[in-house]
Amino acid sequence: MPAASIKKSRILTGIQPSGDMQLGNYLGAVKHWVMNQDVQTNFIPVVDLHSITVKQDPRELYRQTVSLVAMLIACGIDPDKSTLFIQSHVSAHAVLAWVLNCTTPVGWLERMIQYKEKAQNQERVSTGLLTYPVLMAADILIYDADEVPVGEDQKQHVELTRDIAERFNNIYGETFVLPEAVVPKVGARVMGLDNPLIKMSKSYAHVRGHAISMLDDSKEIERSIKRSVTDSYNEIRFSNEKERAGVNNLLGIYQVITGKTVDEVENDFNDARGYGDLKSRVSDVVISEIEPIKKRYHELINNSDELGRLIQKGDAAAKQYADPKLDIVLEKVGLHRNDNTGG
Ligand code: AMP
Ligand code: TRP
Repeated sequence: MPAASIKKSRILTGIQPSGDMQLGNYLGAVKHWVMNQDVQTNFIPVVDLHSITVKQDPRELYRQTVSLVAMLIACGIDPDKSTLFIQSHVSAHAVLAWVLNCTTPVGWLERMIQYKEKAQNQERVSTGLLTYPVLMAADILIYDADEVPVGEDQKQHVELTRDIAERFNNIYGETFVLPEAVVPKVGARVMGLDNPLIKMSKSYAHVRGHAISMLDDSKEIERSIKRSVTDSYNEIRFSNEKERAGVNNLLGIYQVITGKTVDEVENDFNDARGYGDLKSRVSDVVISEIEPIKKRYHELINNSDELGRLIQKGDAAAKQYADPKLDIVLEKVGLHRNDNTGG
């Protein structure tokens, strides 16, 4: 086997500090990063600079940023194994984004679906909203990441990142690795409890019974699952049929948490008496998965020294990679930060 194929993949994935993390983020994304920490090199920026492309309450933003770091650690992201940090603390991201802004045609950005959608709902559109994907490209390219796990909605931005990297490489010579978007399998999608045809999302957090927040108490989790939409078939099995999406979703949640196969999961419910039983067993596994995470989260939030130390450690590890990479890029375009004659 050639050496290159044994090389650890370098994964980068940004996560926005808006709203509490929900079960979908955890089961669809974070849990996989945790499981792969030993076989991959993970970079996980909490992308606060992306958050300010839309209006934020300044006091809330920092609280949410720190809260997300604590939650990710509580979920099992190990600061000794993964580089978990705050994007705005590593200024190389913003500098590289500026450089890439200067080689990226504006037409490429105007074509982005997410930009068009977000811009539609706003009276005044900031330049930041338009160049958002360039900052995302900087996040990825500055670590030479080769894989970017994202949801379907972010795939276009990763493809744009490749175009941005390729263009820069063509102009200034080989500099950036071209990253691949890795979209998780459909089975990894957690759907809304109130409407199993849409993805569980923080954006609907205000809708009662839609999502399970990782900070919900056990009673709330039980209530949300008990109220979740099912069907009238009264048959507990996986299914792709639209009208059975609710039961399929509950089984999917149970499966990701227990790590069992489809057959094993269905067998577990052979003796179940109807959807009431299904819901209470799913609640039980969700609660026992979330309880220790919540406990660790609160310990960290109440120990700001420990959390502060872990954040500094992540920031420093990120800078160790990002700063020299930025120097290489700057030199290629004719900006010499380390040249004494420049003053
Ligand atoms: P977001 O909160 O949309 O920025 O998503 C952060 C990460 O969580 C991305 O990798 C998403 O693909 C993943 N994610 C968000 N919601 C879900 C969901 N309902 N099911 C599975 N994965 C999700
Ligand atoms: N745009 C991503 C989202 O909204 C967040 C993000 C920022 C990101 N930088 C990234 C994701 C780099 C992956 C890689 O979900």
